[in-house]
Amino acid sequence: MVQAHLEKNASLVKDWARGYESQVNEYSYWLDEVEGMIPLELQGTLFRNGAGRLEINGQKIGHPFDGDGMVCSIAFNQGRTYFKNRYVRTEGYRKEQAAGKILYRGFGTQKPGGWLANIFDTNFKNAANTNVIYWGDKLWAMWEGGHPYQLVPETLETIGEDSLNSLLEPNQPFSAHPKIINNHFVNFGVKGITSQTLTIFELDNLGNKLKQYSHPLTGFAFLHDMLVTDNYCIFMQHPFQVKGLPFLLGFKTIEQCFEFNPKQPTKIIVIARHGDHNLEILETEAFFGFHHGNAWEKDGKIYLESICSQSFPQTQQAELALEKTDFDHFPKGELWEFELDLAQKAVSRRKIETRGCEFPAVNPMWIGKEHRYLYMSACDSPTASGPLQAILKLDKGSGENQLWNPAPRGFAGEPIFVPRPHGIEEDDGWLISLVYDAAIHRSYVVILDAKDLDNVIAKLHLEHHIPHGFHGNWIPKVFV
Ligand code: CO
Repeated sequence: MVQAHLEKNASLVKDWARGYESQVNEYSYWLDEVEGMIPLELQGTLFRNGAGRLEINGQKIGHPFDGDGMVCSIAFNQGRTYFKNRYVRTEGYRKEQAAGKILYRGFGTQKPGGWLANIFDTNFKNAANTNVIYWGDKLWAMWEGGHPYQLVPETLETIGEDSLNSLLEPNQPFSAHPKIINNHFVNFGVKGITSQTLTIFELDNLGNKLKQYSHPLTGFAFLHDMLVTDNYCIFMQHPFQVKGLPFLLGFKTIEQCFEFNPKQPTKIIVIARHGDHNLEILETEAFFGFHHGNAWEKDGKIYLESICSQSFPQTQQAELALEKTDFDHFPKGELWEFELDLAQKAVSRRKIETRGCEFPAVNPMWIGKEHRYLYMSACDSPTASGPLQAILKLDKGSGENQLWNPAPRGFAGEPIFVPRPHGIEEDDGWLISLVYDAAIHRSYVVILDAKDLDNVIAKLHLEHHIPHGFHGNWIPKVFV
């Protein structure tokens, strides 16, 4: 029994790890290998970002977060689709490509050559690998520690770092998790490591600044994602400390200097979007999580969802060895709903899904509003931790969830909700995701009917694989 479990796990982890194999080629072609029919109403472009390679000329980097950003574009036009993928030509990409070796430290990456090669080097590479979004007639490849890189939406060619008409100072980060609410683009950036400032930027639909407000933070904050409602921006500050000396001296990566303290509370930072931009902090139990679902206001309270795990999934090995990942001991992310009472400074939370999950998404028209449905990547097992494989539709109204599951050898990434044009109901639309199929070491784009996940509308087979990625967005404009 134990032996069978270990063997099944070993082949699963091997399949999953192979999905991280670098894709060094850049393609451009019509997707002709199609199962099913692509709806004619599905007109627009899906952009998705992720680390395209986890090595430079055979030298392995230390963490998937440090891989060079490779943007995919899947343009849907009158029932046909055109695929493209292209690396973002960041400054780091160009320099490392020319040198043929690793030149930068990263979140979990050291330069080869031991501590002497790394001492006092705090210059990270902007990998432009985390998200890609189109706003104000610009396409941005985003990374949370720096400026976005602007791309040509038709060709994915890199234009260069974008300071948003000097809105961003040279060292001002602009996170990879903006939120769009009522046609406003809300994003944030955390500047500094030992002393940090959180700045929020609100842009209009042309990309012009509407508001900018800042607060100093106390304690170390690793803020990856945010939530937004009509009146508030909300962040989770998980209980981390960073003992950075071994990082400065070149002995450890910054990620290895993170210390998660389960005895300290998680702080929920609530900042008013209007008036004096007042900041309030509520406290709750210790947990860690990268991503949040949605937030909304109701009856004087704030509600939100967040994916919570008991600890931080820290890299243990000195060198990246994904095929040795032990999912039996990997902290599982579960979805919780929180109720915040600002007047009473009280927080309560309840678990609403025990299946391991990540990459939550809602119909974008429901951001900041009370919603019924949430879509996520999810584990195959309903209880155990594991790699992300399935797509889960959570129905908070009926409690009757649905799962589309390409396990044992398929691995679905983030589901992106595409609203049906002129659709009214919250789940009237499609879910699109890139799925890695380990059986043939290729990927496909799956289109599911968001109303009924058993209804697979189409599968569009790529001629190659695309490594497991991070985030993307749909734009109802065709860029071929
Ligand atoms: Co993210």
